[in-house]
Amino acid sequence: MNKRQVLIFGGSGLVGSKFLELNAGRFNISSPPASLVDITDFNQASKFIEDSGAEVIINFAAFTHVEESEKQKNDKRGLAYMLNAAGAKNVADACKILEKHLIHISTEYIFDGTKSGSPYIEEDKPNPINWYGQTKYFGEQNVLESGCSYIIVRLSMPYSAYYQQKSDIARFFLNQLREKKQIKAIINQRITPTLTDDIANALAVLVEGKASGIYHVSSINHTTPFEFAKQIVQAFNLDSSLIVSMTLGEYNQKKMAKLLKNSWLDSAKFTGEFGQGILHSVEESIKLFKEEVDGKG
Ligand SMILES: NC(=O)c1ccc[n+]([C@@H]2O[C@H](COP(=O)([O-])OP(=O)(O)OC[C@H]3O[C@@H](n4cnc5c(N)ncnc54)[C@H](OP(=O)(O)O)[C@@H]3O)[C@@H](O)[C@H]2O)c1
Repeated sequence: MNKRQVLIFGGSGLVGSKFLELNAGRFNISSPPASLVDITDFNQASKFIEDSGAEVIINFAAFTHVEESEKQKNDKRGLAYMLNAAGAKNVADACKILEKHLIHISTEYIFDGTKSGSPYIEEDKPNPINWYGQTKYFGEQNVLESGCSYIIVRLSMPYSAYYQQKSDIARFFLNQLREKKQIKAIINQRITPTLTDDIANALAVLVEGKASGIYHVSSINHTTPFEFAKQIVQAFNLDSSLIVSMTLGEYNQKKMAKLLKNSWLDSAKFTGEFGQGILHSVEESIKLFKEEVDGKG
């Protein structure tokens, strides 16, 4: 059987690179670097989409520095807006014209984090509280307004056992603790840190299926940064006395872009439609993370 032709933008990033690594045998994937295809240029993006012959386009490309984005607040020529909103529009408009199916990657930051007691579901009303979230929300709206065939996949705190270019919550905690450095971890924030392997596998299922609409793809339960750090300590047999608790308020005081109090995404729609076993619990993911870290060690 012929493999599906998939074109991805942002294939060198934290999440895109894992999709590429795990799905290179499953699909025919084309992953042009940003130096070859700049999605802020409609003509470049459109021409590449057309020439690639891909049926499905996944747009991982984004400006993901939350704090840096805040310095660009309301600047529509800033990179955050240019990539997350205008770039998303270019890709979606090209997909509409060329009749391609788009999987657009978004974030929990489109919400305001004030929902209490339960996770965010796909139908909850977006209300971003920082510029990164705002630009990503513009991006989602642009995808919807383009009229293209689409899936919007919202992620939360992706982390990977290995990725050179940038850190993430799990490797930051692990590396600090291994070096016997103290870490401050928030006790009153709800999070769904998600292993990029799970995201890559979930996206593969979406590439093969006929779904459309919005999906939350995240770990199937939630935790707090403090509990997450404790789980890492336990899995890697490290010193738990190095973990010091802090409140979200203390953390946010020092930041221009505020973290969400509740960034817990509900992935029940995805698991209900595509089955259990693709997305793991936070605890299971830490085990898989450890196996991969040890395997690379
Ligand atoms: N990381 C998170 O915490 C997080 C959380 C929730 C959702 N997400 C979403 O998940 C997606 C992937 O995030 P990530 O963390 O994997 O991103 P990332 O590591 O920051 O990578 C960004 C990617 O975008 C590419 N890119 C930059 N400028 C471009 C341009 N002008 N044209 C085309 N490509 C360009 C980069 O290519 P070069 O390397 O060549 O510059 C890189 O491959 C994004 O939509 C993000 O909003 C991320």
